[in-house]
Amino acid sequence: MPDAPAPSAQGQLRLLACDLAVRAGHLISEGRLRGVGAVDTKSSATDMVTAFDRASEALIVEALRLHRPDDAIIGEEGTADTGTSGVRWLIDPIDGTTNFLYGLPGYAVSIAAADNLGTLAGAVFVPATDELFSAARGEGATLNGAAIHCSSTSALPHALLATGFSYDADRRRQQMSRLQHIIGDIRDIRRCGAAAVDLCNVASGRVDAYFEEHLGPWDLAAGELIATEAGCRSGDLSGGPVRPTQVLVTNAQLFEPMRSLLAHADTLCRTTD
Ligand code: IPD
Ligand code: CA
Ligand code: CA
Repeated sequence: MPDAPAPSAQGQLRLLACDLAVRAGHLISEGRLRGVGAVDTKSSATDMVTAFDRASEALIVEALRLHRPDDAIIGEEGTADTGTSGVRWLIDPIDGTTNFLYGLPGYAVSIAAADNLGTLAGAVFVPATDELFSAARGEGATLNGAAIHCSSTSALPHALLATGFSYDADRRRQQMSRLQHIIGDIRDIRRCGAAAVDLCNVASGRVDAYFEEHLGPWDLAAGELIATEAGCRSGDLSGGPVRPTQVLVTNAQLFEPMRSLLAHADTLCRTTD
């Protein structure tokens, strides 16, 4: 048997992201068995942070500083290291903190590495199901090592849409009011509680589409690469590139019908406000 080829530069970043996501995931899931510990709030009374969010970020950041000392690192819980290499890491140490707090299984660790062209590599680890999703730019997406692909649903009435809500009360109301204009046109809606897991669910065909607004860059980066490497299309509602403030990810056939349905719902909300 010939030796396997050495991983590409982005393949090496993927391996590191995977290793750290799994290590941090075990830290938080094993810690959770002993209780949630101290809980504080952040941007609003519903936006919570636990000692485990901070411990997970600390584990990941310490390892990145050791292995990739010239890279920039941005973590949701406050890390903001500048770098000189042109690579920056985006870390969500627990995506789905509300699920984590309540003992629900839908939480993950999300880690991405990006350059000025976009995301290079990403890993999302879901401890409760022991599922590791990952991708590297141009190299496909996998779940526990096996290639994944998005669904082929092309008709809106058959489309299962995942979504989420901001922690800001006014934005939540707006987001909920848009949903009433689309719920009659699609199969159903899911609110799983972790954006990175939602994106991986689109990547693996477990839902057909995901739409959310007002995310952080750490929510989006790894999962969006995993989804697009699994055949998905991503963008905003105006036909522009995806951005954390407006994220639509679906399979290629469903993108345009779903985009236009959501954009129409947005117009209806604005006229009935
Ligand atoms: C949140 C989750 C949630 C989404 C929110 C995110 P957090 O992240 O991904 O599903 O609806 O917009 O902020 O706070 O649990 O890391
Ligand atoms: Ca998050
Ligand atoms: Ca988080």
